[in-house]
This record gives sequence, C-alpha cells and structure tokens, in this order.
Amino acid sequence: MRWEGKCPSCGAWNTLVEAPAPVGSGGRRARESGSRSGASVAEVSRLGGAAGDVPRPERRPIEFGEVDRVLGGGLVPGSVLLLGGAPGVGKSTLLLQLAGRAQIGGARVLYVSGEESREQVGLRAARLGSGTSELRFVATDRLEEVLAAVEAEAPDLVCIDSIQTMWSGDLTSAPGTVTQVRACSAALQARAKATGAATVLVGHVTKGGALAGPRTLEHLVDVVLHFEGHRLGEHRLLRGSKNRFGSVDELAVFRMTGSGLEPVPDPGGLFIEDRPEGVSGSAVAVPLHGTRPLPAEVQALTATSRYATPQRIATGFPPRRLTILLAVLERRAGLDLGGSDVFLSVIGGLRLTDPAADLAVAAALASASRDRPIAGGTAFAAEIGLGGELRAISHAETRVTAAVRAGFDCVFLPAALRPSLGKVAAARYVATLSEALDLLETE
Ligand code: TYD
Ligand code: MG
Repeated sequence: MRWEGKCPSCGAWNTLVEAPAPVGSGGRRARESGSRSGASVAEVSRLGGAAGDVPRPERRPIEFGEVDRVLGGGLVPGSVLLLGGAPGVGKSTLLLQLAGRAQIGGARVLYVSGEESREQVGLRAARLGSGTSELRFVATDRLEEVLAAVEAEAPDLVCIDSIQTMWSGDLTSAPGTVTQVRACSAALQARAKATGAATVLVGHVTKGGALAGPRTLEHLVDVVLHFEGHRLGEHRLLRGSKNRFGSVDELAVFRMTGSGLEPVPDPGGLFIEDRPEGVSGSAVAVPLHGTRPLPAEVQALTATSRYATPQRIATGFPPRRLTILLAVLERRAGLDLGGSDVFLSVIGGLRLTDPAADLAVAAALASASRDRPIAGGTAFAAEIGLGGELRAISHAETRVTAAVRAGFDCVFLPAALRPSLGKVAAARYVATLSEALDLLETE
C-alpha cells in the first residue's frame, strides 16, 4: 500500500478514499453471499403481500414519552435507527434512558460506548435512576469487539454511542472518516438483520446540520431521528426525517432536567410562548405534526428591496410555497410585495409542511406589509387555493380545540367547513383570502 494524493484517473487531489477490497471475481455481491467462486446464488422466493398475507412489522414499544409515536409504534426488530444531534444536545442521555426503558420492558440490551468510560456512563445512569443498572455494558470503539459482544450477549437491542467513534481493524482509515463510519454501519446493520436485534446508532451532526461523516449513512439505515434543542433552552425536539416503517411527521418534546429527559406530553403553548405583543408580522398557525395539532408562531418581515431581484428568505417553510402565496396575495388580494424583500420564519425550529399553515403565513405577510398587528387571540387554519379561496383542511375540530387550549379565542377557518363543523365558539368561517385580510384590517 502506498499513499496517493492524486487520482490517477481524473487528476483531482485529495479525493481518494479507502474502500474494502472486493473478494473474488464476483465482487461485492459474491462477498455478501459468502461465495468464493463468484457465482453467487441468492435465495429467490415468493414475495407475498396479498392482504393478510404478510404480517405488519412487529414492533417493540419503548414506552418512553412519545418516542414510540415518533417511531410509528416502537422499534422494529432487526432495524437500524440513526439518532442524530449536535454535541451536547442530550443524545447519550436519551439513548441511555431509552435503553433503560427497553430493559424494564423485558428486552435484553447491550449498550456500547466508544466515547465514555464505564464510570462516566455509570455516573450518568445514577443520575437517571431506574432501569439502567441492569444494562449490559461495554466500553469499546472497536467494531470487531462490538460484533463479538453482540454474538455473545444475543441482545434484543444494541445501542452504539457513537457511530463516529467506531473503527474496524480491517481498514487503515482513521476513526470518524467516511470509510470507517460507512463500513462499521454496514457491518452493524448486517448483524442486526441476521440476529433480529434492533440497533440504535448515535451520530453527531455538524454545524451545518448534516449528519457528520457520510450522508450515505442516512440511506443505509431504516430510521433517522433528529434530536434538536429548542431556543428556549431546556426543551428538546425529537423528530423523524426518514422512517421505513412509518410516517416522519410526528414530533416528541422533552425537557432536560437534573435527572435526565422528561417527556412533555402536551407541549401546547411551547411554540408561541414568548410571542411579542402588538408587533406586526406575527401570526399563529395550527399545523398538525402527524396526528397532533401544535400552535406555532410565524413571523414575517417585509422591506423595500435594494436589489433588482428582491430577496425571499424562508426558515421552516417551503420557499416554493412562499413564492406561490406571494403571487396569490398579489393577484387575489391586491397585496403587491413584488418590490419588497420578504423574510419568513417559523419560530422554535419547527417546519411547517402542513398546507393548513397557508393562511397564517399569508396573514403574517399582510400584517407585516401593512404594519398592522394581528389581535393576540387569533389563530389560523386554512389552505389557500390559487384562486384565493380558502380550502378545507383535515382535523379542523382537533385544531380548534388545541388552539383554544393554548389560549386563542378566534380561529380563522375555511367557510367550506361550516356545514360539517357547525357552531364552534372560537371558529370564524371565511371564504376567501381577501375576505380574511379585510376582516383583519378592520378589526
Ligand atoms: P449528553 O447526553 O452527554 O449530550 P450528547 O450525547 O448529545 O453530547 O448531555 C448533554 C448535556 O445534558 C450535558 O451538558 C449535561 C446535561 N444533562 C442534564 O442536564 N441532566 C442530566 O440528567 C444529564 C444526564 C445530562
Ligand atoms: Mg454523547
């Protein structure tokens, strides 16, 4: 082996990465099936899939806060979950608490720490209390030792903290490199599939928000969860960005306390908590996260543009959707922001993908542009059509209930819902965007 800095094929510098050598002439496929001749033979069988033919994937609930809801019911045996988050957000704490819960639920858990010693993890476990003392624990960063421990312990759940520290002796790359992380993940995944042990990998996230090391890791694993801080400090959000077994819309909220993470089952007012009073450009949407409505503040700011092409910057809201709403505002409600820079931000790190957030976004934009604050007790839940009409949304009743519980007394809803929803005290039925903006203007 020798060092090579320049690619002999394209001439680029520092682009070469190490990869394990293929075994046998059949390359990767042959290696995976264990065939030495290269003529690999995979077992082919009937797929099944007719109704009632194939059982739904079995799940093991963890029963820790709402993690199961985010997972779509629990951990699927043999699956690999990647838990990503910035350093210090509480990944190790969450992992240890999950492991403890799973243990109490009767699972056999192997906890592997490549970052901390038995004493360090023991101290944390003591802070967290029940469930963690019976965990099977090994402090190692060596893949081969982890695989041997999995072999010996036959766990139902394997926890790895973190995947970036794991390294295989078969490779010469340093731990944390793309090659090592990818190879270790693949080996752990193969073992998970073979033994049926669910595996949770902790992954560090870089400043830019990407899972450090390879993005390819996200393609490899079955489920990707992100653990994020909330700007108010102690709250943490857990949400999925990929789930082969369920939806990725659900959201769980925790609070970091002196004795670990505490689930917040009803975060109702969390994302509207420190809403400024009497300031223009702020509106409250009631989007669904999975099945649960959660009032969220949207802020807009408009300013005369100094550029030929005005800026459109949206955080937590799809930029294309913003462009469409600006066009509808102009054509259907006479609000021309064509010469203005427009900034839109969803508070608290939430992402609004629910179309029912449209009206709140439009109302925030109109409020910013007219410099007229929206009354404090008002929330919005309606999708906006290209004709400027307000379109019906799902789960209107639970949204109104959630808004009222969070202290709102007036929820703008599409008029189309009046027949089905009827007389709800807080409901304010409106047919079009321009009608909604007129009402806000005259209030
Ligand atoms: P940690 O889980 O180590 O974060 P990560 O693994 O994501 O780097 O925890 C990070 C912070 O949480 C740390 O600053 C201490 C704090 N913490 C508490 O506030 N309460 C607790 O019970 C524990 C265990 C940690
Ligand atoms: Mg950690």
